[in-house]
Amino acid sequence: MGSDRHIGRVQRIGILTSGGDAPGMNAVIRAAVRSASARGIEVVGYLDGFTGFVAGEFQELDDRSVGNIIHRGGTIIGTSRCPEFLDAAVRAAAVTQMRVDGVEALIVVGGDGSFRGALAVQEEHGLMVAGVPGTIDNDVYGTDETIGFDTALNTAVLAIDQVRDTSESTGMMFFVEVMGRTSGALALQTALAAGATGVLVPEAQDEFGELELRLRVSIERGKRSHIIVVAEGEEAGGAFAVGERVSKAINQPYRVVVLGHVQRGGRPSARDRIIAAEAGAMAVDALCSGRTGIMIGRQGGRSVEVPMADVVRFKHPRPEYALLHLAQELSG
Ligand code: F6P
Repeated sequence: MGSDRHIGRVQRIGILTSGGDAPGMNAVIRAAVRSASARGIEVVGYLDGFTGFVAGEFQELDDRSVGNIIHRGGTIIGTSRCPEFLDAAVRAAAVTQMRVDGVEALIVVGGDGSFRGALAVQEEHGLMVAGVPGTIDNDVYGTDETIGFDTALNTAVLAIDQVRDTSESTGMMFFVEVMGRTSGALALQTALAAGATGVLVPEAQDEFGELELRLRVSIERGKRSHIIVVAEGEEAGGAFAVGERVSKAINQPYRVVVLGHVQRGGRPSARDRIIAAEAGAMAVDALCSGRTGIMIGRQGGRSVEVPMADVVRFKHPRPEYALLHLAQELSG
């Protein structure tokens, strides 16, 4: 439940999308605007995340302006990473401007870094805030899945299905790099769904020996297609070094495919749209009912309110290693 309660009816809510865009963010915006509109509440969209919030730049959003966006990837109000927002004086000026503009509460769609900013303005200025987890990385505490993850997973799997054809035809190994700077969640689930031979995630780096052994055995047994999913880790492009190292060790030709931002775009899956619809509406409901400092997460198949303070305090649990072992066992 919310960490704080505020009395008084909210008339005008701001919404912003922050950090890396994720498919389904538009569906959140649509749901929040329409759900607010059904209650007679206005919504404004801050442009380019906290950057627009700081500059006081926003656009009015109404039922019609969020029409025809449910199926579109990206975010119609733009997003950014905004290091200036780490500065308390910048936050204070932004909230002052927000109040001048008659905006009383804020919905932040993004990852845990974005929620840290939201919580800071609640704590420092008593602003009502609600969060919706939107990132393809699925690395936010308090939610089983983030909006955008399912779409990105499907994009990666589709790409690997295509790479598999050429791997099978040529006998070359393919190292496919998927996004996820500090989290291997996307890599693990991609590997399982794509039937990869191996997967390397940032949470467990020392698996080369085992991977090389598995590839050797598999090649000796006559298998031709080998897909190794590599989570991007701290630096994009790390799969090149991984491929080089493994290829040298087992003397086998290889290629590297970096999926990169391909995974961030595209039509959101039905699943992401549904979660987004619930989350956008629930965020509005929380703010209208005076509940603040919460994030709408998914737990056990249901959308629930999670204290934002917990979301920023705790790290997302490590990905399930059972999946890693299952992916390896089934790779054949
Ligand atoms: O949004 C999350 C994410 O896509 C990470 O998976 C990736 O490491 C990062 O963003 C890339 O960020 P940028 O687009 O700023 O390079």
